[in-house]
Parts: sequence; structure tokens; C-alpha cells
Amino acid sequence: MGEKTASSKPPAAAQTRAAQLRELLARHDRLYYIEDRPEISDYDYDQLYRELADIEQRYPALQTSDSPTRRVGGAPLPAFRPVRYRRPMLSLANTYNRDELGDFCARLARLVPEGGYSFVVEPKIDGVAVSLRYEDGLLALGSSRGNGEVGDDITANLRTIRSIPLRLAVASPPAVLEVRGEVYLPRAEFAALNRARAAAGEPEFANPRNAAAGSLKLLDAREVAMRPLAAIFYGCGETSGLELLEHAQLLRYLRAAGLPTPPRYWECPDLPSLLAAVDALPSVRAEFPFETDGAVIKLNQRQLYERLGVTSKSPRWAVAYKYAPSRAATRLRGITLQVGRTGALTPVAELAPVALAGSTIERATLHNADEIARRDIRVGDLVTVEKAGDVIPAVTAVDTAARTGAEKPFVMPDHCPACGGSISRRPGEIAWRCENLHCPAQVKRWILYFAGRDAMDIENLGEALTDQLVDRGLVKDPVDLYQLTAQALAGLDRLGPKSADNLLAGIAASKRRPLSNLIFALGIRHVGLGMARVLERHFDSLDALARADRGQLEGIRDIGPVAAASMAEYFAAPRTVSLIRRLHEAGVNLRRLPGTLTADRRFAGRAFVLTGALARMPRAQAEAEIRRRGGRVTSAVSAKTDYAVAGADPGSKLQRALKLGVAVLSEDEFAAMLSGGSAPAPDSGAAPAKETPDLRRPGELPL
Ligand code: IVH
Repeated sequence: MGEKTASSKPPAAAQTRAAQLRELLARHDRLYYIEDRPEISDYDYDQLYRELADIEQRYPALQTSDSPTRRVGGAPLPAFRPVRYRRPMLSLANTYNRDELGDFCARLARLVPEGGYSFVVEPKIDGVAVSLRYEDGLLALGSSRGNGEVGDDITANLRTIRSIPLRLAVASPPAVLEVRGEVYLPRAEFAALNRARAAAGEPEFANPRNAAAGSLKLLDAREVAMRPLAAIFYGCGETSGLELLEHAQLLRYLRAAGLPTPPRYWECPDLPSLLAAVDALPSVRAEFPFETDGAVIKLNQRQLYERLGVTSKSPRWAVAYKYAPSRAATRLRGITLQVGRTGALTPVAELAPVALAGSTIERATLHNADEIARRDIRVGDLVTVEKAGDVIPAVTAVDTAARTGAEKPFVMPDHCPACGGSISRRPGEIAWRCENLHCPAQVKRWILYFAGRDAMDIENLGEALTDQLVDRGLVKDPVDLYQLTAQALAGLDRLGPKSADNLLAGIAASKRRPLSNLIFALGIRHVGLGMARVLERHFDSLDALARADRGQLEGIRDIGPVAAASMAEYFAAPRTVSLIRRLHEAGVNLRRLPGTLTADRRFAGRAFVLTGALARMPRAQAEAEIRRRGGRVTSAVSAKTDYAVAGADPGSKLQRALKLGVAVLSEDEFAAMLSGGSAPAPDSGAAPAKETPDLRRPGELPL
């Protein structure tokens, strides 16, 4: 490589173009990840990225550390290097009620008798604390909190997070700027990651925070790159060449420099407005992509920080206000085992029904047998179940004092509870698995996965029907679905001729699903829907993908060595070869559908929410049509939503859309938009005008 560098001196034109491309890509990263208003399609982004990667490959001398092509690099580390902080990473004292917040303010009033200060209230992000050190604007070091004095150098891992700029977007960067913040796994990604882990037989993460923490501890940055982590920054450590007097000013500076900052914060002049902000936060936190377990109240005047000082690791100028999680006590009636698609056995808590945060909870995941043993959870125990935000309920505590002696420790059976086959645990894996590939429970999960919305989207194929199909031997694997006939279905319970016809129509329609959904439906380890979409852009058929070797796969942006190896192994297996042959014989489309890569970008940068039942097309198709035109589909309505498409019986999302002044489209209007009718501007035309009602409280900062 040294030789190549020496022999191929880059021409000036290549140098200029490379610099231009780096700046362009950094700008589009900022628009996409920080400002949430992309201007170009993923496809166009990829073209720019590829052009830069090509130039850098030809002229390695042109590579720079802030190049977007260098987010993931290097071999796995043997261990993390320690980092000592000049300014320790502090933690916060907690308050739990208004009186305690009042005490915090009263103490400030005593310490700053001259007054003249104000507060900033921010969400408390339930993530993992990190520090980034920028030197002359370049990301030089990224580290974890550790004990606050000494952390770990996790630069390679943090560089993979696309919302973290490798270079600050300011004209004259300070000599040193250490920013402090939180890395988190967005809620939507958490659900998808756990689904993929469950499908792969890997243990699920208990909550997004654990998932983020676990990801940052990986020694192979290429694996971290596959976890869609994000970050928010809300403070600073050491700085040199930068003076900001107010905290709100610091937040604005960070944001302008291209760093993600809290999506909402409130500037409050006094205690009453501070209490109002603390009350307002819970009603908007559902919009945040991260879990919030409280508010953080900070003094706005930074010049007072030093004078106020620190008590046992937490500053006197800030405090956390924690919201009580919804929790309830109930009896653990039993522990059952769920058999996953790949045979992994996940223990599930069977609970005496209990009301929690608006729903009745009867089951909660217990993750794995080791976890049950570690926490000494026994059948018959009185346990606490908790639900924070949207997170699935978890058993968080056991009341050992309430034991009678009749409680029974959980014992992992030595056979699969579904098929009686033997179970085993591979070295290094946490999950026990049923080894029987024909285990009916596995086959059922496999079929449900294959028919799922992100996969082949076979409507009307629910659990009850799948159970019957497998139990009666009509279906032994997903490809058998394509052999089903009305005659075969006639004998099934609770399935009239009309429903049978609908099922067959659904199965037939699934033969023409996009290639990305088919790739996802195969359930290859480490290949989620996002990666399947990347693959679809690079391969025009399943055969072409199956023929690709590891090197070819690893050369694609967003595909790491772990996924590449997993695909190579999957496609080499004789079972896969025969599965693909049978899919082909059944008439399932194995090619990229025409129009997939077309440049219809009319919805670029627009965010859609679908609500209610759509009559004209399945929801998954509506989502695909939006994405195909460059739009985004999100699950929750927020001020950033451009359109809400309302089908029959729309729910609270419609109310929220109307409240926020988001343009609401009927299904017909949406269909017209898809078929080329001009998209009504989200702030004019047929749809109600988008006027952003002023929901802010006095003193709150416009964002
Ligand atoms: S400020 C010196 N602001 O919560 C003050 N911390 O429980 C440093 N956290 O250690 C922290 N959101 O890791 C601050 N908006 C926010 C935060 C926040 C989450 C974390 C942080 C801190 C921990 C304390």
C-alpha cells in the first residue's frame, strides 16, 4: 500500500473533488441525522459516497480521518485504553417531588443571594454517558464515563454513530471542545433489534439502555456499526478557545456545530415556570426517539458553576427530577418456554393479571435461564413488574421477604417442551436451543416470521391458522404455503370458504413482494430489513446475492464482516439451495421489481404517518410506496410529521395530527398523490393548514 501511495500522486482535481465530496456528505449526514430534513435520496447519497470511496481507493494519500468512508475501520481491539478526564464526568442528584425541587431552588437562592439567574429544563435521556473530544474541530477521542474520573477509549465505536460529526461544522473551531452526552438506541430500533435477536436465537436486551451499553462495549467497531445507535449532547467538559456564558447558548452552539442536542428544552425564569416545564415534559416525551425517565434542571448561567461547586460527585447547579415508573406487584404463576424460529428457548413469566400503565399485563419476558438464576426468581414469588415508557414490561424485583417456602426455583428441562427433542447450548451462547429442525413450534414461528408484515406480508395468516396448518401436516416449511389449495384448507376449523379464499389470495399476492422483503423473509442471521434494502440496491436478484462472495459483500457500505460471513454461510447450506429452488418453482419472484431504483423522489424529506385501516392497499404496500418515492414513514405523529394518512377508524394519531396542524389525507387523496397527482404542500391546499399551535409555556424556548 505504501508503494501505491508513493507511485500515484493524486492530481489536484482529485484532491479538490474529494474535499468537496467529504463536505457534501457531511452536510447530507447533518440534514438527515440532526435536522431530520434530508434533501437527497439514499440512492443519490450512495452515489456520492461511492465516488469518494473510489477516489480514496485510487489515491490513499487523500484519505482523511474525518472522511465519511472512515467511520468504520480497523481490526477488533484486544481491550479499551483508559482515558483520564481533566474535568470529571459528574452525575446528578435526584429529586422525586416538587418539594425536593423547591429545596434545590432554595439552596441556590441562599448561595446566589444577588439573584438574576434562570433555569433550563431538559429531558433526561436514558442512555449511556459518553464524552467526545474535538481538537481544532476534528473528533480526536471518544470515551465512556467509567467511574467519572477514568473512562474507556471507545473512539472507534463512537465514530460509527452517524449522527456524531467527525468534524465540527463551525468556521473557526475551538482548540479543544469536549462535549458530554448520551448514546442511546432509538426505541423503534430497539424493538427491531430484539426481534432480530429473538429470531436469531440470541438473548434479547432488557431495555434500550442495556442494548446501547452492550453495543458500545463491543471490541469490534464493525459490529457496532450494525447497531443503529444515536446520540444527544447536552453539556461540555474541557474547553479551550470557547466561552459561552449561558447553557442555552451552549446548546445552540452545539446544534449549530452539527451535534445532536435535546429535541425540546425549556428556558425558565423562576420556580413556577420550572415546575410547569417539568409537568409539560411527560406529555411530549412519547415523541422522543429515546427513553426519558425524568427531567434535568440546570442553572442557565454557566459563570456561576465554579462558584457553586460540587457535592460528592454531583454539581450544585443541576439536579435530576425523576418520574415515577409505572409499576405493580403481582404473583409469578409459572415460567413457560417459548420456542423461537431458530429453536432458541426463551423463558416467559406467566403472571397473575395486573393493571399497568393502561393495560393488563399477564406475561413478561425473563430473557434467559442464567438471568432467572442470577436473580433467584422462583415460581410463586411476589414480583414487581415495571413498564417505563413504551418498553415491554419487565420483572424488576422479587419480594424474597414474602416467601412461604413453597416457591419453586426454575429448572431448565432437558427436552424441548414443544417436541420433546433434545436441547443444547453452544459454547459462548446464552440461549438453549431445541436441536430438532422439524420441531413444530420452530416451524410455526418460522412461518409466522416468513408471513410477517416486513417479510412476505401474507394477510390473514395468524397464529391459530398456522398452528392448524403445521399440526395437520399441511405445511412443513414456508415454501409449502405455496402448495396449499382450497381443498386442503376445507377441513380446517373456523375457516370458512371466504376466509380460505382470502388466505390463498394473500399467499398468491406474496409471490410478487419486493426483493428486499423476500431477503428479509429468509431470516438470515444479522440481516434485518434495513440491510435487506441495502442488498436490494446492489443485487438485482436473489441468485446474484447468493453467488456473491464474502469479500464482495463486505465491500458494501453498511455491511460488516459478521453479516457478510453469516450470508455466505447461509447461502452455501444445501438446505438453502433447495429452499430457493422450491421458491422459484412455486413462482415466487426472486428478482428486483422494476421501478425499485427509479428516481421518483417526490416525497423526499417528507414524513408520513399511517393511521386507521386502509382499504385500497395493505399498509405494508402503502409504506413501501412512500419509501420508494423518497419519503419516510414514522409510527408516531410529531411536529415533524408532514402528512397523516387516515383510513377507517383512525385512532389517537389522527387527533394528535389535527392538534398539531399536520396535513391529513384521506385514502383517496393519498392514492392520487401516489399515482402522480401533485402532492398537496403540507402547509396548503386541500389539507388543513399546518399552523403550529403555540403549545409552549411562557419562558419556553422556540425550537
Ligand atoms: S447533565 C454535571 N443532562 O444522567 C451534570 N445529564 O443520572 C452532568 N443524563 O451522569 C449531567 N440526560 O449521564 C445531564 N439532559 C441531561 C442528561 C443527563 C441524561 C445522564 C448523565 C448523568 C446521569 C445522572
